[in-house]
Amino acid sequence: MPGIRESSDGMNKAPFVSEDEIRDWIGKLRTSRKYRSLDLPESLLRDVILGELSRHNRPDEALKAVREKLHNIVAPYLGDPDYSLAQTALRAAFTSGNPQSIRDFCLSMLASHASTRERIPLLGEFYSRLWQITGIPQTILDLACGMQPFALPWMDLPASIRYFAYDLHHPRIELIHQFFQLSGCSCKAIHEDILVNPPQIEADVALFFKEAHRFEQRRRGACLPFFQSLRVRWLLVSLPISSLKGTRNLEDRQRRLMQSILAGQAWEVEEIRFDNELVFCIQKT
Ligand SMILES: C[S@@+](CC[C@H](N)C(=O)[O-])C[C@H]1O[C@@H](n2cnc3c(N)ncnc32)[C@H](O)[C@@H]1O
Repeated sequence: MPGIRESSDGMNKAPFVSEDEIRDWIGKLRTSRKYRSLDLPESLLRDVILGELSRHNRPDEALKAVREKLHNIVAPYLGDPDYSLAQTALRAAFTSGNPQSIRDFCLSMLASHASTRERIPLLGEFYSRLWQITGIPQTILDLACGMQPFALPWMDLPASIRYFAYDLHHPRIELIHQFFQLSGCSCKAIHEDILVNPPQIEADVALFFKEAHRFEQRRRGACLPFFQSLRVRWLLVSLPISSLKGTRNLEDRQRRLMQSILAGQAWEVEEIRFDNELVFCIQKT
């Protein structure tokens, strides 16, 4: 059983949990009914477990906090399609050879997740406004991508685009991988915890949308070192400006959050305000 390790002054009561026990927790979480279909990266589970063990006095409290944190990171409440039906619909859309069927399929995927659903009314202008600032990118990192790669038909990117999409949700990444393959583009879908392993591919633009506030909830102070580690010319960070139910205006709060994350940095930042989302365009080089 895990014990409680008390420091010599009796103050610090970080629990002692052995490596075997940590592996046991990881195994139980990965195979739990809630998460087994997602194949969550081990690096994510280990990082969250170690983080909570350092914050709690008792192993059972730490495990409860791990479960709460994972729920917020994975965010099942934001929505998902049925991935096996989506795989079938994806193949049917490409087999039809009809560009409109492919766009309709993409729209249904964008609609299946709250973050991209909110962007659908803006699809015609959203990405062109970003590229007006960054120039048309040749290489893009889509960090914590969710369903955003299905917006590719509206991004007006060159056929030679290199697009790297990262997410920790395996069925989502598998679907995006199939979509990239059938599209025939030089694109890659990568199953990874980007906070533990920040991508090191050099790129013109990184998109980090609607996730920075959640990174800070996972680990306060996580964003700045993450931003610094990316080897990109432009880092575009967006934050939602209304709550999920649309009842609260978060605009000032989100602007203050970005100011506090970027305090002391010499990077130039230009802001674009869309109806539901603020995009901070950070010029890193
Ligand atoms: C709020 S959604 C945003 C999706 C997308 N960026 C957008 O704005 O449309 C968060 C997404 O990030 C993924 N995610 C959260 N933490 C992550 C991490 N550390 N590494 C990779 N993906 C992560 C989740 O699985 C989910 O798909």
